[in-house]
Amino acid sequence: MASPAAGGVVIVGSGLIGRSWAMLFASGGFKVKLYDIEQQQITNALENIRKEMKSLEQSGSLKGSLSAEQQLSLISGCGNLAEAVEGAMHIQECVPENLELKKTIFAQLDRIVDDRVILSSSSSCLLPSKLFAGLAHVKQCIVAHPVNPPYYVPLVELVPHPETASATMDRTYALMKKIGQSPVRVRKEIDGFVLNRLQFAIISEAWRLVEEEIVSPNDLDLVMSDGLGMRYAFIGPLETMHLNAEGMRSYCERYSEGMKHVLKTFGPVPEFSEATVEKVNEDMCRKVPDDPEHLAARRQWRDDCLMKLSVLKHRLQPQ
Ligand code: NAI
Repeated sequence: MASPAAGGVVIVGSGLIGRSWAMLFASGGFKVKLYDIEQQQITNALENIRKEMKSLEQSGSLKGSLSAEQQLSLISGCGNLAEAVEGAMHIQECVPENLELKKTIFAQLDRIVDDRVILSSSSSCLLPSKLFAGLAHVKQCIVAHPVNPPYYVPLVELVPHPETASATMDRTYALMKKIGQSPVRVRKEIDGFVLNRLQFAIISEAWRLVEEEIVSPNDLDLVMSDGLGMRYAFIGPLETMHLNAEGMRSYCERYSEGMKHVLKTFGPVPEFSEATVEKVNEDMCRKVPDDPEHLAARRQWRDDCLMKLSVLKHRLQPQ
């Protein structure tokens, strides 16, 4: 359990991502204050977290060494931002992805925080140089981008502003490790950070292959879920290269010419034309109709699978 002297965590914005962060910090033994501009959102978040934690405890998948009740006792709501951040060591902003809104929140925080607290944004794609421009406490600012659902997918991309202090990166990295997440240091900001750049590269080639009628949308998805994705859940593309030959050097000697040949046949950025959207949508809807009930049920199934995978990954970790 974290010592009380370590200070607490404040979540600004108690929606989907704010709730997940609250659960993760509480699982690491940290005191958490949930703040939101809508009082009702705080009430809903507290209720939702209680339900989630109880059900996770029942299924044996609650994180951390504390019981659900102990974790719940660490989380409280607060409708006043200045009061919430008093004495905090880490503030995790989780308001909607809107640059002006986030800038207003950080300007507000900049006026009331001390020199020790870390100001962290959950932004998926806004660049730190835009988010934190002109703040007096810019050295303490960082983006910590989680992946949905953060409780089961541990990756967090840490992205600094050019003026972020290295101590801010180090402290955020250590905090993420402490709550069981898997942080990566993105050394310099770049559009899409790393995860979305990889994701968009895959989507882009997937789209071209479907558009050119090389493969159907459903079969394309199978190539990932029953092919590449199986090993990517455990090792990345670079380690895959290393293992698929006698080490990285040998892989490049054997396959780099072949890879370059294929890579040169990749097409331009897709236009995502209506005709292809229609075709892909038809296949997707045959599998998962796009009404709210079917989508919610499929998301629930996906999250259950991810929860089981995260348990399995934990069990299979090399000693
Ligand atoms: P959400 O819409 O579920 O929650 C946003 C919350 O912020 C709401 O409770 C809203 O009342 C509150 N809010 C709005 N204005 C506020 C203000 N001025 N002060 C305090 N609270 C305010 O949004 P979600 O999905 O939780 O996203 C939050 C952030 O996390 C975004 O930056 C998003 O890009 C990022 N993110 C989202 C992921 C996702 O899959 N939903 C994944 C990774 C990051």
